[in-house]
Amino acid sequence: MKSHRRPHTLIVGGTRGTGRAVVRQFLSRGHVVSVIGHRRPPEARRANMRHYSVELTEAAPLSAALRECIRRDGPLSNLVFLQRFRGEGDPWQGELDVSLTATRNIIEGLSRHFARGTTGSIVIVSSNSSRLVADEQPVGYHAAKAALWQMARWYAVALGPRGIRVNCVTPGTVLKAESREFYLRNKPLQRFYRKITPLGRMGTAEEVAGVIAFLCSPAASFVTGQDIAVDGGLSLLWQESLARKAAGLTHPGSSKSNSSDERACHPAAGLPPLPQHGAGTGAEAGSHAAGRRVRAALAGARAAAGFPAGPFSVPALRLCATA
Ligand SMILES: NC(=O)c1ccc[n+]([C@@H]2O[C@H](COP(=O)([O-])OP(=O)(O)OC[C@H]3O[C@@H](n4cnc5c(N)ncnc54)[C@H](OP(=O)(O)O)[C@@H]3O)[C@@H](O)[C@H]2O)c1
Repeated sequence: MKSHRRPHTLIVGGTRGTGRAVVRQFLSRGHVVSVIGHRRPPEARRANMRHYSVELTEAAPLSAALRECIRRDGPLSNLVFLQRFRGEGDPWQGELDVSLTATRNIIEGLSRHFARGTTGSIVIVSSNSSRLVADEQPVGYHAAKAALWQMARWYAVALGPRGIRVNCVTPGTVLKAESREFYLRNKPLQRFYRKITPLGRMGTAEEVAGVIAFLCSPAASFVTGQDIAVDGGLSLLWQESLARKAAGLTHPGSSKSNSSDERACHPAAGLPPLPQHGAGTGAEAGSHAAGRRVRAALAGARAAAGFPAGPFSVPALRLCATA
């Protein structure tokens, strides 16, 4: 029987976009890489890559390609899904068929074909549209992406006993070969991304590929059922923060250097700082008076919010400010 020494990774949707960056990542790590997608990518010339041009919604050709993939290159180490519907026709049905049903069919078809003795990894690429609304994308894209996340969790439980880990990677908008020029030419859009993203820039397809590679590595051997956002922290921000960044405004009480400062999250922001216990001196009498006013305001807010009497904690203040 043929022995297969190199790890074998199947990448669904690896013929363009982020998928191609994932293909290059695994090729550079010495894997045998099988790729599903219609068009033949340039990497298909590489000796350790095989391309299967197959339509994911056609059951018979798809299962023939999966059988051939295992027969030629052996059991899988990793299975990565990046496909999304780009076809003509009803986008609702298209997204459900291409993103959801094809993913389920392939996992069901291949879960018994993972290499024994190592942990296998399945990574499903989702999108921030699984929890936010991207109004340039159809409803089916949102519904499919949200469902993929729960599908990943379900399979993480079902396949855990077989040593197969299942996780999601959730990118924000990233620069890929096909879109890079559009974003690089569009300076106002670039500046806007720099302004609103905590890490101060757009991400790249290669950075998404890096997180996928991590989830498929021994470094992630005890990680399953998780979702890793790759968006520079953008999805952490609530609308007020985004609106202020977009408008170039800062909150009057915001403290960039110390975000746990009570002033940053309370309506009494802007008043002099509260005196520290034991730190007061005669020279600070004025600010002590202001401090008493702030404490009185805080006590009122605490009572209104139903918190017990006692020193204010920062988490309690945050609750007040965001409720
Ligand atoms: N790009 C972003 O900024 C971004 C942001 C958030 C999330 N994502 C997610 O990241 C993943 C990759 O995005 P992308 O923009 O790089 O995608 P993309 O460029 O549209 O590539 C999609 C891939 O899926 C394949 N595919 C689609 N429908 C297929 C079908 N019916 N049968 C066979 N293959 C099919 C395509 O192959 P062919 O073209 O050869 O048919 C291609 O390889 C997607 O899941 C997307 O939702 C992307």
